[in-house]
Amino acid sequence: MSESTFGSPLSSAPSDDLEAIDVGSATRLLSGGVVALVTSTWRGESNVIPISWHTPLSSSPPLVGVSLEQSRYSTDMLSHAGEFVINIPPKELANHVGYLGSLSGEDVNKFEATQLETFSGRRVAAPLISDCCAWIECEIVERIQTGDHLFFIGLILSAQAHSAIHDGNSFLPKSETTPLHFLGGNSYSTLRESFVARAPSASDAPEEILQSMIEEDLELSREVREKKEEELGKLAKELEKGNVIDTKTLESELGIDLGSIDNLDLSKGIVLDDSNS
Ligand SMILES: Cc1cc2nc3c(=O)[nH]c(=O)nc-3n(C[C@H](O)[C@H](O)[C@H](O)COP(=O)(O)O)c2cc1C
Repeated sequence: MSESTFGSPLSSAPSDDLEAIDVGSATRLLSGGVVALVTSTWRGESNVIPISWHTPLSSSPPLVGVSLEQSRYSTDMLSHAGEFVINIPPKELANHVGYLGSLSGEDVNKFEATQLETFSGRRVAAPLISDCCAWIECEIVERIQTGDHLFFIGLILSAQAHSAIHDGNSFLPKSETTPLHFLGGNSYSTLRESFVARAPSASDAPEEILQSMIEEDLELSREVREKKEEELGKLAKELEKGNVIDTKTLESELGIDLGSIDNLDLSKGIVLDDSNS
């Protein structure tokens, strides 16, 4: 049992087989999101970079962030272009993703090398990759240096997705095509299962919280009762030996009122009735 309710610093670790992760690698604990193929066009040249470090930032205005290592060719491309497209590839493009991540647009025209087909965006010059599941066109509104990366904040100007695979809220895991997720190294995954978590309603959540608190309190009071019984046992032995007991200290230590105990016979010392403990 944890030592206190609601996880104060006194709570013990949930188990003793916890593994310390090097802080430099701890960002990997956040892996598993969809892969993004970020495209950009500058001076008539287009490039594409697979990334996994991207995040939603705001609904209104609609903002997303993409984090590119400063040395990437794409970092220069995005900086100059001032806009980009997030293309979300399906599982079928996994090998392309690995390949695109092994080349630099500085050395190779990746669209020529991969023969990926593209179509025009609605709002930006960067190409949209035809075989992807969804596309988000962005204008860069801010750049922030974050350690060895440059974080581009993009205002979403337009977004499209295949209706068979996205219902407007989320990708549909049972559809034939689902986005590719990145697990690190050369490992990828797809959504296999979706389920609905039971959301607590405004009325039943406090009850449940209360219930678990009551259970915890019961457990605590059991411990207190056992401790009290143990102390009373020791006390009874002291009395048998004829030792003098300070009743006031006793009352405050044990949280009991000795005045209320009927068979308190001071001529023989204090006799305690267990049923009152
Ligand atoms: C699945 C995957 C995810 C990646 N995620 C990122 C990322 O989030 N940020 C980044 O800067 N590089 C990331 N990379 C590495 C770049 O894709 C890779 O260095 C690429 O060759 C750079 O291309 P460029 O030089 O044309 O810009 C990732 C690579 C792969 C395969």
